[in-house]
Amino acid sequence: MRERQILFSSNQIATKVSELGKQIAQDYENKNLLVIGLLKGSFVFVADLMRAIDKKIVIEFMTTSSYHDAEHSTGRVEIVQDLERDLTNFDVLIVDDIIDSGLTMKSVYELIKSRNPNSLKTCALLDKPSRRKVEFECDYVGFTIDDLFIVGYGLNYGDYYRNVDHIFIFLQEDEE
Ligand code: IMP
Ligand code: MG
Repeated sequence: MRERQILFSSNQIATKVSELGKQIAQDYENKNLLVIGLLKGSFVFVADLMRAIDKKIVIEFMTTSSYHDAEHSTGRVEIVQDLERDLTNFDVLIVDDIIDSGLTMKSVYELIKSRNPNSLKTCALLDKPSRRKVEFECDYVGFTIDDLFIVGYGLNYGDYYRNVDHIFIFLQEDEE
């Protein structure tokens, strides 16, 4: 079996998610918050984050695709499943699992912006700023990490490991 190294335990993640939720609840106190989770990667994070935001909110999901079963992005972001809701009266927060090249967040940000929400911000549990191909700064970031391919807590390798409750990396492949 490939050796793994745990990067963030489920406790570390829970603490961070709770801090993010408190901050967001405070910042959106008098606002009409609509969270848009980007599927599939963010579904575990969004499920925990929304319960850490102690106020009335609306949740929607969009499915985006850029990674295809591999560790490398195709560089193209596809909206696989769009929203149906009118955003004009909402303070929208786009939530993703991780920002890598920045292509996904940037293109979704621009698309949502063109639909004229009251306000628009972004949140990601993880950020790899050294990997940016386009300039993009996220408003709420859980953990900033180096250039590592990470897995678990919604993040996949191939089609697997999204269900793992912590975040890990695979170490060097074993010699056969
Ligand atoms: P970006 O468009 O290059 O910023 O990539 C964002 C998307 O790629 C995220 O929504 C993830 O689904 C996926 N991704 C980026 N880095 C990783 C990683 O380290 N592990 C698993 N998925 C990743
Ligand atoms: Mg994704």
